Amino acid sequence: MYEQFPVRKFVAPEIILGNGSRSLVGQYAKTLHGRNVFLVSDPGILRAGWAGEVRDELERQDIHVVLFDKVSPNPRTSEVAKGSQEYQENECDLLVAVGGGSPMDCAKAIGAVVTNRCHVLDLEGVDEVTVPGPPMICVPTTAGSSADVSQFAIISDENKRRKFGIISKAMVPDVSLIDPEVTLTMPPNLTAETGIDALSHAFESYVSNASSNMTDMYALEATKMIARYLPQAYEEPAELRFREKVMLGSMYAGLAFSNASLGLVHSMAHSLGGYLDHSHGECNAKLLEVVVAFNHSTVPERYSALEAAMDGSSSCTTRGLESLRSRLRELTDSLDMDPGLSKMGVREEDIPYLTENAYNDACHVTNPRPAYREDIARLFHEAL
Ligand SMILES: [Fe+2]
Repeated sequence: MYEQFPVRKFVAPEIILGNGSRSLVGQYAKTLHGRNVFLVSDPGILRAGWAGEVRDELERQDIHVVLFDKVSPNPRTSEVAKGSQEYQENECDLLVAVGGGSPMDCAKAIGAVVTNRCHVLDLEGVDEVTVPGPPMICVPTTAGSSADVSQFAIISDENKRRKFGIISKAMVPDVSLIDPEVTLTMPPNLTAETGIDALSHAFESYVSNASSNMTDMYALEATKMIARYLPQAYEEPAELRFREKVMLGSMYAGLAFSNASLGLVHSMAHSLGGYLDHSHGECNAKLLEVVVAFNHSTVPERYSALEAAMDGSSSCTTRGLESLRSRLRELTDSLDMDPGLSKMGVREEDIPYLTENAYNDACHVTNPRPAYREDIARLFHEAL
């Protein structure tokens, strides 16, 4: 039957992909007329030397740099407020973020707060950023969050122990310098967690109600690359060729989810991460399988295509839910990831609060099967 193409938009930053691309930061900062850069990073990335390298590149181009490294693993509203205050006090004119999802999301939120002259909580939701932030360059140091290419920024509301999303075309950075070399310093657990976050992006965008021909292509290719190369990058962390493949897979997944949005895994993971301050990738890893089981009967053919992609095959023979579940378990086992939320410290009595915050999260709007509070509570129970 003839199926008409739906009308869909696709947004992306200027992407420079390849080893050594981080050295172009000074050149791009000049192109964007930056004279006084606000450099957002975190203490771990400073220790690894990547933020210092980027600062040196900027200074070589006679660009003044103000360093802001007060970013937690789950960036908080107070850190965004502090950063936007320092940005304004120093009269900065360009944002550069070096790090994983946390510094990049924090930098995106700082930019939006600066130009919109508001509190970061006022920007929660879809299309609430009225004025685009200052120009921004990202140098991602993990292969997973894809905040460098996405319309999303996720911030922790520490007072309510919840996370919220700022989702807007205005949150897409101007330039992403994607340099696989900088992922060589990731410890094995971070490689695994961020990689599973990227796989969750690919899965959720492919089954999303807002998926399109443009995002499907990226989601399937991302699934293929991550399933094949993530275990190898985990086993042989110093092998750049595996890091390159996972980085590319993560970028594809980022382009897919930025434009097709996400689903219930992310709503539940945001709730969990906001409540317990655990890493986002670890939360996703513990939830992906139960959400796949919940959604499977609604879009079985989409999940068959994802399983085929995981096996590097183009044939979409329907193998069913149990086959896909065991394939996912095989992958997480190969990354030494424990299933079970109880091992993270989640208790039965936490489930009502976790459920409410997951239900109020915007990501599950595009989940293929509608999820109500009772469904989400049951899934949290199953994942214990
Ligand atoms: Fe994610």
